[in-house]
Amino acid sequence: MLDFGSGLLRTKTCIRVDLQNDRFSVNKSLQVAGNIQEKINRHAVPNVEKSACNLDYPIRKEHYSFMIKRIRSDQLQPGMYIHDLNCGWMEHPFAFNSFKVDDEKTIAKIIASGIRVLYIDSIKGLDVSDAQTHDEFHAELHDQVTKLAGNHVVKPHLPVPLKEEVVQAKVVHAEAHNVVHHLMSDIRMGKQIEIAKMSPVVENITDSIFRNKDAFISLSRIKKKDEYTFQHSVSVCALLVAFCRTMEYEKAVIMEAGTGGLLHDIGKMKVPDFILNKPGPLSDSEFVNMKSHAAIGREILNQTPGVPEIAIMITGQHHERFDGTGYPDKLQKDEISLLGQMVAIVDVYDALTSNRVYHKGMEPTAVLKKLFEWGKFHFNPELVEHFICLIGIYPVGTLVKLESSLLAVVVNPGHESLLRPTVRTVFDIKREYPVTPQDIDLSIQRSDSIVQYESPEKWGIDPFKFL
Ligand SMILES: [Fe+2]
Repeated sequence: MLDFGSGLLRTKTCIRVDLQNDRFSVNKSLQVAGNIQEKINRHAVPNVEKSACNLDYPIRKEHYSFMIKRIRSDQLQPGMYIHDLNCGWMEHPFAFNSFKVDDEKTIAKIIASGIRVLYIDSIKGLDVSDAQTHDEFHAELHDQVTKLAGNHVVKPHLPVPLKEEVVQAKVVHAEAHNVVHHLMSDIRMGKQIEIAKMSPVVENITDSIFRNKDAFISLSRIKKKDEYTFQHSVSVCALLVAFCRTMEYEKAVIMEAGTGGLLHDIGKMKVPDFILNKPGPLSDSEFVNMKSHAAIGREILNQTPGVPEIAIMITGQHHERFDGTGYPDKLQKDEISLLGQMVAIVDVYDALTSNRVYHKGMEPTAVLKKLFEWGKFHFNPELVEHFICLIGIYPVGTLVKLESSLLAVVVNPGHESLLRPTVRTVFDIKREYPVTPQDIDLSIQRSDSIVQYESPEKWGIDPFKFL
């Protein structure tokens, strides 16, 4: 049993948490500070003041989420409990994402690995009393990203309807996957890659993106766990092509960047399979081996005739970070080319939204918010904003909850605002029953709007069945 709150609550201890038995108790005889009472109410804990003494409640995650604090990594001290290392974008060298910090050596390792901000659990370990809570920060983050998306001026209609382009995009996607698979297998066997085979693939992907980017990009989210590296390469190619287009690059440059997207992880074919697909955390030496893929990939492409310079540069720079914490060359800011800065964002976005051997992919809206958070350090923040507007805060295929208590799938981006796409209703939350799918253009039907994105897993709904 432990008490918490002396610093944070700014009052005498009034809540006891029994971590072993998953219960907490509230002692009425002590006064609860106003802001904490408000937080307790918000988190659905019964009103403390009106309750009898020494009440005993089962702990639910949401009850103490306000005790999760966001701190800078240089504020870490032994005795703190890390709730989340906040570094989903890299294969970090720690056995767990949550653990108690016992010594300065661990703190030095965390800082050296490039983690700038992380989350601590102030119930399980020492607190930083004036740090922002997880909930406060995420409410702020949501407002900032929503404001950004709301202010974005959507460009005129796409030339080909989504439904039509999806048919073509499926063919292009399958073909691209096959070519990348063969190409990477050649590298694994020590053969030289034939770059000429890639040109038509990149051209077909580029044309599909130019006709309607949402078709290919929504298809790219569906990946088989065991074919991640190949499918990730195809996705990065498509996303980078779309990103370059919004940045108004010429088509010839876009295609060279797309080639870089397809090849960017080619160095992974020289990393042993057991490291590449290891379900658990990597050891220090395995981590070094994994990180070598960026420099190895650049070397392979340097020795391959006909590879565009842009593609070589993208491959070598896709793990560099804006604040100099990346690899292989620890470049920072303008030392990294603009395309290198762009592919870093694209690579992380696709990695986090994908199902991997060891983790379930996050929803795109959540990842875009993470990118916005990390953009303050690891990425070029302006480019992150461009990318969020490109993908849209609720991209096609996202399951959303409407104010009308309906669940719906985003089927077309908004004509006027990224916040008001066209959605297809799938489920009535109040009646707890599926509904006959019906399209609602939220830019026309102003009486309804999106409240938030929802987890398809939580509702047992596959949004892609409704596209
Ligand atoms: Fe990589």
